[in-house]
Amino acid sequence: MGSTAYRPSQPVILAAAARVRAESPAQTTPVASPVARPFLKWVGGKGKLVDQIVPLLPIGPLHYGEAFLGGGALFFALHNQKRLRSATLTDLSTDVVNAHTCVRDRPRELHAALQAHEKAYTTGAEAARADYFYRVRAMHPDLVALDPVERAARMMFLNRTCFNGLWRENAGGKFNSPHGRYANPAIANEDRIWGANRALQDATLVRADFRQWPELVRTYDIDFVYLDPPYQPVTATSAFNAYSGGAFSATAQRELAQVCGELDKLNVRWALSNSDCPMIRNLYKSWTIHTVRAPRSVNSKADGRGDVNEVVVTNRRAGLSW
Ligand SMILES: C[S@@+](CC[C@H](N)C(=O)[O-])C[C@H]1O[C@@H](n2cnc3c(N)ncnc32)[C@H](O)[C@@H]1O
Repeated sequence: MGSTAYRPSQPVILAAAARVRAESPAQTTPVASPVARPFLKWVGGKGKLVDQIVPLLPIGPLHYGEAFLGGGALFFALHNQKRLRSATLTDLSTDVVNAHTCVRDRPRELHAALQAHEKAYTTGAEAARADYFYRVRAMHPDLVALDPVERAARMMFLNRTCFNGLWRENAGGKFNSPHGRYANPAIANEDRIWGANRALQDATLVRADFRQWPELVRTYDIDFVYLDPPYQPVTATSAFNAYSGGAFSATAQRELAQVCGELDKLNVRWALSNSDCPMIRNLYKSWTIHTVRAPRSVNSKADGRGDVNEVVVTNRRAGLSW
């Protein structure tokens, strides 16, 4: 318990959230049938790539699994296209899984807690906003007993107001992105919460490491898995892959390819996204490697412009049904 800086402000923030909750009518009328979209801004999110990825997938309807959920762009797109029979969604990040669970199970409370954050944050000038951001950031869930909804609201607030929407954790699992500058951040976005809430209704959410997937496909009877890991850096300077308390090493990339091999043996179909680099092409050379064009990510060199190649590997085989 090193830092005590968060303590004085914590009751103020929680009290504000509780007040808005108490003031909110128990049954807010949900927005009419909003489209399901990610409610987290996620670096490496597949929002801009779904149109290229979806045609490479089995038609379905699928007993779908997603091993690196993040913002869940592909899951929401497939849900909107009615291609899913069931969904099992996992991520190593407790915050990612908790936020999706709260959107699924406690949307009204969550929206109210986000409104409290929005009110406290947007009424201030720049310095006051930054101060509020750093006080909320210091309420680290492992140090402060946060209710799951408060934890999800903290995460979603920080995600919308931090620099570049970059959910980055240090080796100790502490979120450490700095404050960003947005004139009008969409902190309490009711449309997104309700759209995602509908899509997640029947989804199973589990905090899990990707190495658990051979076991998970058996437990949940899954027939297709999408895997979107932190990418293997193409160059030394493009190495942002520390989403969740530590970098995703080259060893992890090799273990992931082994997991794909195990899924293959279990006759589970899968698709995997990664960077287009010799190491990844070599690891997946026994399967089908497709090339897609992606917008450059935030960690790309400032002088770089335009799109880059990425790969989508599938275990589709000629002559086998997909
Ligand atoms: C590229 S992002 C996924 C983005 C997501 N497909 C989207 O559209 O938003 C990678 C995710 O992998 C998760 N992750 C990192 N290491 C992991 C591990 N060992 N097992 C499972 N998930 C992990 C991170 O928390 C992060 O959410």
